Amino acid sequence: METPRPRRSVLYVPAVNEKALSKVASLACDAVIVDLEDAVAPGEKAAARDRLAAFFAARPACETVIRVNALSGEWGSEDFRIAMELAPDAILLPKVEAPRDVLEAGDLLDESDVPTKLWAMVETPRAMLNLGAIAELGRDPAARLTCLVAGTNDLVKETGVLMTPDRRYLMPWLMQMVLAARAGRLDILDGVSNDFRDLATFGRECAEAAAMGFDGKTLIHPAQIEPANMAFSPTPAAVAEAEKIVAAFAEPGNAGKGVISIDGRMVERLHLEQAERLLAKGSAQKGTHP
Ligand code: COA
Ligand code: MG
Repeated sequence: METPRPRRSVLYVPAVNEKALSKVASLACDAVIVDLEDAVAPGEKAAARDRLAAFFAARPACETVIRVNALSGEWGSEDFRIAMELAPDAILLPKVEAPRDVLEAGDLLDESDVPTKLWAMVETPRAMLNLGAIAELGRDPAARLTCLVAGTNDLVKETGVLMTPDRRYLMPWLMQMVLAARAGRLDILDGVSNDFRDLATFGRECAEAAAMGFDGKTLIHPAQIEPANMAFSPTPAAVAEAEKIVAAFAEPGNAGKGVISIDGRMVERLHLEQAERLLAKGSAQKGTHP
């Protein structure tokens, strides 16, 4: 089984913010998204691109992603060209609306030799309606799509739903994103929490997102990293339970069995697969639960 890459805590850093960029190497986030899009004002776009080279010259240990502006707009092509030269682990495409947006970016990557993958923001009404077709690209490695990212601020802006502390009106769409990601064998990351000083609410939001099936959360501030790492790591109890299931199926007497009983509960081979996946994920995510 391929070890899944941990993407519990995925931190946005505006590409113009030199101080924040210099902190990244010391942070415990699983991935960083250096942003050229919405966190960079129109007048700062060129300066932001210039900063990228210095950042990538001393590439941090975590997974690196560059969010470009939309290819259909004024800055996208130049962003993409520069991002391609720096060969980050992935390029994050904003405002993706249909499979064609991903395929077009994939064609550009194919023109060079870079192994860079594509991530796609899900943040427009059209993306929600085309979600199944977009996610389906995940099943074709040639399309390079590996991860979907919920863009909740833009979804709120574009649809007019009310953002409430419990995110109730966004929930149906967030659950659709998880479902589509699984159908396309993609990772799926929850949207950001803007109120970075309220870590109690943030912790609850992470726990809820983990329960909904998200692989991790996109973050805007370093204070959000540790709670996200905690929430999206398997608990010691879940790890112990998974180990028990693996051990039970490994017993010679259970070798050919499809279903066994553990502590009075039915456990099938599908649970074994689930347990193995959890353990693989856990071993790639050291250093959270004590
Ligand atoms: N990445 C790395 N470091 C960051 C950071 C980030 N996203 N956000 C803040 N920091 C650093 C600051 O530079 C500061 O460093 P210092 O202690 O060396 O001075 C420290 O963390 C504390 O920052 P703080 O004063 O609490 O916040 P701020 O007022 O400087 O910044 C924001 C607040 C929201 C402007 C900033 O966190 C930010 O720009 N976040 C990302 C926004 C983004 O990319 N949005 C697009 C996607 S939604
Ligand atoms: Mg957005």
